[in-house]
Amino acid sequence: MIPYCSICWDDNKVRLLDQRLLPQQEIYLETTDYHDVIEAIRTLAIRGAPAIGVAAAMGAALGALALTTEDPQEFLSQFKDICREIAAARPTAVNLFWALDRVQKVAQEHAAAKVSDLKARLVTEAQIMLKEDDTTNRHLAQHGQVVIHEGSRVLTHCNTGALATGAYGTALGVMRAAWEAGKRFSVWVDETRPLLQGARLTTWELGRLGIPYTLIPDGAAATLMHQGRVDLAIVGADRIAGNGDTANKIGTYSVAVLARHHGIPFYVAAPLSTFDFSLPDGGHIPVEERAPEEVTGLHGHKVAPTAAPALNLAFDVTPNELISGIITEAGIAQPPYASSLKPWKQRKE
Ligand code: MRU
Repeated sequence: MIPYCSICWDDNKVRLLDQRLLPQQEIYLETTDYHDVIEAIRTLAIRGAPAIGVAAAMGAALGALALTTEDPQEFLSQFKDICREIAAARPTAVNLFWALDRVQKVAQEHAAAKVSDLKARLVTEAQIMLKEDDTTNRHLAQHGQVVIHEGSRVLTHCNTGALATGAYGTALGVMRAAWEAGKRFSVWVDETRPLLQGARLTTWELGRLGIPYTLIPDGAAATLMHQGRVDLAIVGADRIAGNGDTANKIGTYSVAVLARHHGIPFYVAAPLSTFDFSLPDGGHIPVEERAPEEVTGLHGHKVAPTAAPALNLAFDVTPNELISGIITEAGIAQPPYASSLKPWKQRKE
Protein backbone atom coordinates (compact mmCIF):
# COMPACT_ATOMS: atom_id res chain seq x y z
CA MET A 1 0.00 0.00 0.00
CA ILE A 2 1.42 3.39 -0.99
CA PRO A 3 1.10 5.55 2.14
CA TYR A 4 -0.85 8.75 1.93
CA CYS A 5 -1.46 11.65 4.27
CA SER A 6 -4.34 14.07 4.42
CA ILE A 7 -2.07 16.95 5.39
CA CYS A 8 1.51 17.56 6.42
CA TRP A 9 3.99 20.35 7.03
CA ASP A 10 6.93 20.16 4.65
CA ASP A 11 9.75 22.72 4.61
CA ASN A 12 7.51 25.64 5.58
CA LYS A 13 4.84 24.56 3.13
CA VAL A 14 1.49 22.88 3.73
CA ARG A 15 1.03 19.79 1.63
CA LEU A 16 -2.46 18.29 1.39
CA LEU A 17 -4.09 15.56 -0.63
CA ASP A 18 -6.83 17.11 -2.77
CA GLN A 19 -9.85 15.04 -1.72
CA ARG A 20 -12.05 16.63 -4.39
CA LEU A 21 -10.19 14.56 -6.98
CA LEU A 22 -10.19 11.20 -5.22
CA PRO A 23 -10.42 8.38 -6.08
CA GLN A 24 -9.61 9.13 -9.73
CA GLN A 25 -6.52 11.23 -9.07
CA GLU A 26 -4.11 11.44 -6.14
CA ILE A 27 -2.80 14.97 -6.35
CA TYR A 28 -1.17 16.90 -3.50
CA LEU A 29 -1.59 20.65 -3.26
CA GLU A 30 1.36 22.60 -1.86
CA THR A 31 1.16 26.13 -0.60
CA THR A 32 2.84 28.77 1.52
CA ASP A 33 -0.26 31.00 1.44
CA TYR A 34 -2.84 30.62 4.20
CA HIS A 35 -5.56 31.87 1.83
CA ASP A 36 -5.09 28.63 -0.15
CA VAL A 37 -5.64 26.63 3.04
CA ILE A 38 -8.89 28.54 3.68
CA GLU A 39 -10.00 27.78 0.12
CA ALA A 40 -9.04 24.11 0.53
CA ILE A 41 -11.18 23.86 3.69
CA ARG A 42 -14.08 25.76 2.10
CA THR A 43 -14.14 23.61 -1.04
CA LEU A 44 -13.53 20.31 0.80
CA ALA A 45 -10.11 19.65 -0.73
CA ILE A 46 -9.44 18.87 2.93
CA ARG A 47 -12.41 17.89 5.07
CA GLY A 48 -13.45 15.88 8.12
CA ALA A 49 -13.48 17.59 11.51
CA PRO A 50 -10.03 16.60 12.88
CA ALA A 51 -8.31 17.21 9.52
CA ILE A 52 -9.94 20.64 9.34
CA GLY A 53 -8.52 21.38 12.80
CA VAL A 54 -4.98 20.47 11.76
CA ALA A 55 -5.38 22.43 8.50
CA ALA A 56 -6.50 25.49 10.47
CA ALA A 57 -3.43 25.30 12.73
CA MET A 58 -1.10 24.87 9.75
CA GLY A 59 -2.86 27.66 7.85
CA ALA A 60 -2.39 29.92 10.86
CA ALA A 61 1.32 29.00 10.97
CA LEU A 62 1.68 29.91 7.27
CA GLY A 63 -0.05 33.21 7.96
CA ALA A 64 2.31 33.87 10.87
CA LEU A 65 5.39 33.17 8.75
CA ALA A 66 4.24 35.68 6.13
CA LEU A 67 3.89 38.57 8.62
CA THR A 68 6.64 41.16 8.28
CA THR A 69 6.33 43.14 11.51
CA GLU A 70 9.04 42.72 14.16
CA ASP A 71 6.85 44.17 16.90
CA PRO A 72 5.35 41.33 19.04
CA GLN A 73 2.15 43.24 19.89
CA GLU A 74 1.54 44.13 16.27
CA PHE A 75 2.34 40.54 15.32
CA LEU A 76 -0.23 39.20 17.80
CA SER A 77 -2.89 41.57 16.53
CA GLN A 78 -2.26 40.63 12.88
CA PHE A 79 -2.12 36.95 13.80
CA LYS A 80 -5.52 37.26 15.46
CA ASP A 81 -6.94 38.70 12.23
CA ILE A 82 -5.54 35.76 10.26
CA CYS A 83 -7.14 33.31 12.69
CA ARG A 84 -10.44 35.16 12.35
CA GLU A 85 -10.27 34.77 8.56
CA ILE A 86 -9.53 31.05 8.84
CA ALA A 87 -12.38 30.60 11.34
CA ALA A 88 -14.84 31.77 8.70
CA ALA A 89 -13.98 28.88 6.36
CA ARG A 90 -16.67 26.45 7.63
CA PRO A 91 -19.04 26.73 10.62
CA THR A 92 -19.91 23.27 11.97
CA ALA A 93 -16.76 21.26 12.79
CA VAL A 94 -15.72 22.64 16.16
CA ASN A 95 -12.17 21.32 15.69
CA LEU A 96 -11.56 24.33 13.46
CA PHE A 97 -12.23 26.77 16.31
CA TRP A 98 -10.60 24.51 18.89
CA ALA A 99 -7.37 24.51 16.86
CA LEU A 100 -7.40 28.26 16.31
CA ASP A 101 -8.02 28.90 20.02
CA ARG A 102 -5.09 26.67 20.83
CA VAL A 103 -2.61 28.39 18.51
CA GLN A 104 -3.73 31.80 19.69
CA LYS A 105 -3.19 30.72 23.28
CA VAL A 106 0.33 29.60 22.37
CA ALA A 107 0.98 32.95 20.70
CA GLN A 108 -0.27 34.81 23.80
CA GLU A 109 1.87 32.67 26.11
CA HIS A 110 4.97 33.65 24.12
CA ALA A 111 4.00 37.28 23.73
CA ALA A 112 7.26 38.43 25.31
CA ALA A 113 9.38 36.50 22.80
CA LYS A 114 11.01 37.79 19.61
CA VAL A 115 8.71 37.57 16.58
CA SER A 116 11.01 35.03 14.90
CA ASP A 117 10.73 32.78 17.99
CA LEU A 118 6.96 33.22 18.07
CA LYS A 119 6.74 32.13 14.46
CA ALA A 120 8.89 29.07 15.11
CA ARG A 121 6.72 28.18 18.11
CA LEU A 122 3.53 28.35 16.03
CA VAL A 123 5.01 26.15 13.32
CA THR A 124 6.03 23.61 15.97
CA GLU A 125 2.59 23.71 17.58
CA ALA A 126 0.86 22.93 14.27
CA GLN A 127 3.13 19.92 13.80
CA ILE A 128 2.50 18.77 17.39
CA MET A 129 -1.23 18.95 16.73
CA LEU A 130 -0.89 16.68 13.72
CA LYS A 131 1.09 14.14 15.74
CA GLU A 132 -1.31 14.34 18.67
CA ASP A 133 -4.25 13.69 16.37
CA ASP A 134 -2.63 10.45 15.23
CA THR A 135 -2.01 9.32 18.83
CA THR A 136 -5.50 10.35 19.96
CA ASN A 137 -7.16 8.45 17.15
CA ARG A 138 -5.16 5.31 17.86
CA HIS A 139 -6.25 5.44 21.52
CA LEU A 140 -9.84 6.08 20.53
CA ALA A 141 -9.72 3.19 18.07
CA GLN A 142 -8.36 0.80 20.70
CA HIS A 143 -11.18 1.70 23.08
CA GLY A 144 -13.75 1.38 20.31
CA GLN A 145 -12.70 -1.81 18.59
CA VAL A 146 -14.41 -3.93 21.29
CA VAL A 147 -17.79 -3.08 19.71
CA ILE A 148 -16.82 -4.93 16.52
CA HIS A 149 -16.94 -8.73 16.65
CA GLU A 150 -15.83 -11.51 14.37
CA GLY A 151 -18.28 -11.51 11.45
CA SER A 152 -19.87 -8.15 12.32
CA ARG A 153 -21.57 -6.27 9.53
CA VAL A 154 -20.84 -2.60 10.25
CA LEU A 155 -22.62 0.28 8.56
CA THR A 156 -20.92 3.67 8.26
CA HIS A 157 -21.80 7.06 6.82
CA CYS A 158 -19.53 9.70 5.23
CA ASN A 159 -15.74 9.39 5.60
CA THR A 160 -13.91 9.18 8.92
CA GLY A 161 -10.59 7.61 7.99
CA ALA A 162 -7.04 8.92 7.78
CA LEU A 163 -8.25 11.33 5.11
CA ALA A 164 -10.69 12.98 7.52
CA THR A 165 -8.13 13.29 10.32
CA GLY A 166 -4.43 13.98 10.82
CA ALA A 167 -3.94 10.22 10.62
CA TYR A 168 -5.53 6.82 11.32
CA GLY A 169 -9.18 7.92 11.50
CA THR A 170 -12.00 7.93 14.05
CA ALA A 171 -14.97 5.68 13.17
CA LEU A 172 -12.91 4.14 10.38
CA GLY A 173 -10.00 4.00 12.83
CA VAL A 174 -12.15 1.82 15.11
CA MET A 175 -12.68 -0.56 12.17
CA ARG A 176 -8.99 -0.44 11.33
CA ALA A 177 -8.02 -1.32 14.92
CA ALA A 178 -10.50 -4.21 14.96
CA TRP A 179 -9.05 -5.48 11.68
CA GLU A 180 -5.49 -5.13 12.98
CA ALA A 181 -6.58 -7.09 16.08
CA GLY A 182 -7.40 -9.98 13.75
CA LYS A 183 -11.19 -9.70 13.66
CA ARG A 184 -12.74 -10.35 10.28
CA PHE A 185 -15.87 -8.39 9.43
CA SER A 186 -17.39 -6.36 6.61
CA VAL A 187 -18.61 -2.82 6.11
CA TRP A 188 -21.68 -1.33 4.42
CA VAL A 189 -20.60 2.06 3.10
CA ASP A 190 -23.34 4.68 2.62
CA GLU A 191 -22.52 6.59 -0.55
CA THR A 192 -23.29 9.87 1.34
CA ARG A 193 -25.07 12.22 -1.00
CA PRO A 194 -24.56 14.89 -2.16
CA LEU A 195 -20.74 14.96 -2.20
CA LEU A 196 -20.25 11.18 -2.00
CA GLN A 197 -17.61 11.06 0.72
CA GLY A 198 -18.61 7.42 1.30
CA ALA A 199 -18.52 6.36 -2.35
CA ARG A 200 -15.35 8.25 -3.22
CA LEU A 201 -13.27 8.24 -0.02
CA THR A 202 -14.36 5.54 2.43
CA THR A 203 -14.28 2.88 -0.28
CA TRP A 204 -10.81 4.09 -1.30
CA GLU A 205 -9.52 3.88 2.26
CA LEU A 206 -11.15 0.53 3.13
CA GLY A 207 -9.78 -0.89 -0.12
CA ARG A 208 -6.27 0.16 0.85
CA LEU A 209 -6.70 -1.36 4.30
CA GLY A 210 -7.96 -4.61 2.79
CA ILE A 211 -11.22 -4.46 4.76
CA PRO A 212 -14.13 -5.92 2.76
CA TYR A 213 -16.91 -3.46 2.03
CA THR A 214 -20.00 -2.99 -0.08
CA LEU A 215 -21.10 0.42 -1.28
CA ILE A 216 -24.82 1.16 -0.92
CA PRO A 217 -27.10 4.07 -1.81
CA ASP A 218 -28.00 5.95 1.38
CA GLY A 219 -31.61 4.83 1.02
CA ALA A 220 -30.68 1.13 1.19
CA ALA A 221 -29.79 1.14 4.90
CA ALA A 222 -33.43 0.68 5.99
CA THR A 223 -33.92 -2.44 3.91
CA LEU A 224 -30.60 -3.96 4.95
CA MET A 225 -31.43 -3.39 8.61
CA HIS A 226 -34.92 -4.82 8.12
CA GLN A 227 -33.38 -7.89 6.50
CA GLY A 228 -31.12 -8.39 9.54
CA ARG A 229 -27.96 -7.69 7.56
CA VAL A 230 -26.53 -4.89 9.75
CA ASP A 231 -25.13 -5.58 13.24
CA LEU A 232 -24.03 -2.09 14.23
CA ALA A 233 -23.46 1.41 12.88
CA ILE A 234 -20.42 3.59 13.63
CA VAL A 235 -20.11 7.18 12.46
CA GLY A 236 -17.93 10.20 13.19
CA ALA A 237 -18.85 13.66 14.46
CA ASP A 238 -18.30 17.30 13.62
CA ARG A 239 -19.48 18.71 16.94
CA ILE A 240 -20.87 17.08 20.07
CA ALA A 241 -22.87 19.29 22.44
CA GLY A 242 -22.66 19.01 26.23
CA ASN A 243 -25.59 16.58 26.39
CA GLY A 244 -24.19 14.26 23.70
CA ASP A 245 -26.31 15.51 20.79
CA THR A 246 -24.07 15.00 17.77
CA ALA A 247 -23.72 16.90 14.50
CA ASN A 248 -22.39 14.82 11.64
CA LYS A 249 -22.82 14.54 7.88
CA ILE A 250 -26.40 14.93 6.65
CA GLY A 251 -28.08 11.53 6.70
CA THR A 252 -26.48 10.43 9.97
CA TYR A 253 -29.68 11.16 11.91
CA SER A 254 -31.64 8.91 9.52
CA VAL A 255 -29.18 6.08 10.20
CA ALA A 256 -29.59 6.58 13.96
CA VAL A 257 -33.40 6.52 13.77
CA LEU A 258 -33.29 3.41 11.60
CA ALA A 259 -30.85 1.72 13.96
CA ARG A 260 -33.09 2.42 16.95
CA HIS A 261 -36.15 1.14 15.09
CA HIS A 262 -34.36 -2.11 14.27
CA GLY A 263 -32.68 -2.53 17.67
CA ILE A 264 -29.16 -2.05 16.26
CA PRO A 265 -26.39 -0.31 18.26
CA PHE A 266 -25.41 3.09 16.88
CA TYR A 267 -21.99 4.45 17.95
CA VAL A 268 -20.31 7.81 17.46
CA ALA A 269 -16.49 7.94 17.43
CA ALA A 270 -14.76 11.29 17.93
CA PRO A 271 -11.82 12.84 19.79
CA LEU A 272 -12.52 15.10 22.78
CA SER A 273 -11.55 18.06 20.56
CA THR A 274 -14.90 17.51 18.78
CA PHE A 275 -16.86 18.15 21.98
CA ASP A 276 -18.26 21.61 22.49
CA PHE A 277 -19.25 21.77 26.13
CA SER A 278 -20.14 25.44 25.76
CA LEU A 279 -23.31 24.29 24.00
CA PRO A 280 -25.96 22.66 26.22
CA ASP A 281 -27.58 20.73 23.37
CA GLY A 282 -27.56 20.13 19.64
CA GLY A 283 -30.10 22.86 18.94
CA HIS A 284 -27.26 25.36 19.35
CA ILE A 285 -24.89 23.74 16.84
CA PRO A 286 -24.50 25.90 13.70
CA VAL A 287 -25.30 23.74 10.68
CA GLU A 288 -23.56 24.66 7.46
CA GLU A 289 -25.73 25.28 4.43
CA ARG A 290 -23.81 24.82 1.21
CA ALA A 291 -24.52 25.80 -2.41
CA PRO A 292 -27.67 24.22 -3.91
CA GLU A 293 -25.63 23.28 -6.99
CA GLU A 294 -24.03 20.46 -4.94
CA VAL A 295 -27.50 18.88 -4.80
CA THR A 296 -28.78 19.74 -8.28
CA GLY A 297 -25.58 18.50 -9.91
CA LEU A 298 -23.12 15.66 -9.65
CA HIS A 299 -19.43 16.27 -10.31
CA GLY A 300 -20.16 19.36 -12.34
CA HIS A 301 -22.97 17.71 -14.35
CA LYS A 302 -26.46 19.10 -13.91
CA VAL A 303 -28.91 16.37 -12.90
CA ALA A 304 -31.97 18.47 -11.96
CA PRO A 305 -33.84 20.98 -14.14
CA THR A 306 -31.91 24.24 -14.37
CA ALA A 307 -34.32 26.20 -12.16
CA ALA A 308 -34.87 23.43 -9.54
CA PRO A 309 -34.65 24.88 -6.04
CA ALA A 310 -32.60 22.72 -3.65
CA LEU A 311 -31.72 22.78 0.04
CA ASN A 312 -28.20 21.68 0.92
CA LEU A 313 -27.78 21.26 4.67
CA ALA A 314 -24.33 19.72 5.07
CA PHE A 315 -24.95 18.24 8.54
CA ASP A 316 -27.72 17.04 10.82
CA VAL A 317 -27.92 16.59 14.57
CA THR A 318 -28.58 13.18 16.09
CA PRO A 319 -30.27 13.42 19.51
CA ASN A 320 -28.19 11.83 22.27
CA GLU A 321 -30.91 9.30 23.17
CA LEU A 322 -30.33 7.52 19.86
CA ILE A 323 -26.60 7.01 20.53
CA SER A 324 -25.50 3.73 22.18
CA GLY A 325 -22.03 5.01 23.07
CA ILE A 326 -19.60 7.82 22.25
CA ILE A 327 -16.12 6.45 21.61
CA THR A 328 -13.24 8.80 22.50
CA GLU A 329 -9.60 8.58 23.53
CA ALA A 330 -10.83 8.67 27.16
CA GLY A 331 -13.02 5.59 26.71
CA ILE A 332 -16.60 4.89 25.64
CA ALA A 333 -19.15 7.20 27.23
CA GLN A 334 -22.50 5.57 27.83
CA PRO A 335 -25.93 7.14 28.17
CA PRO A 336 -27.25 9.08 29.98
CA TYR A 337 -24.69 11.54 28.61
CA ALA A 338 -25.85 14.42 30.83
CA SER A 339 -23.98 12.67 33.68
CA SER A 340 -21.45 10.44 31.89
CA LEU A 341 -19.85 13.34 29.97
CA LYS A 342 -19.34 15.46 33.10
CA PRO A 343 -15.84 14.15 34.01
CA TRP A 344 -14.76 14.69 30.38
CA LYS A 345 -16.04 18.22 30.51
CA GLN A 346 -13.82 18.84 33.55
CA ARG A 347 -10.89 17.16 31.80
CA LYS A 348 -11.25 19.55 28.86
CA GLU A 349 -11.43 22.68 31.02
O1 MRU B 1 -18.39 17.85 4.95
P1 MRU B 1 -17.33 16.93 5.48
O2 MRU B 1 -16.85 15.94 4.47
O3 MRU B 1 -16.20 17.70 6.13
O4 MRU B 1 -18.06 16.11 6.64
C1 MRU B 1 -17.31 15.18 7.35
C2 MRU B 1 -18.10 14.42 8.34
O5 MRU B 1 -19.27 14.64 8.53
C3 MRU B 1 -17.35 13.41 9.17
O6 MRU B 1 -18.18 12.34 9.49
C4 MRU B 1 -16.85 14.06 10.46
O7 MRU B 1 -16.17 15.24 10.19
C5 MRU B 1 -15.96 13.16 11.22
S1 MRU B 1 -14.39 12.95 10.42
C6 MRU B 1 -13.42 11.97 11.41
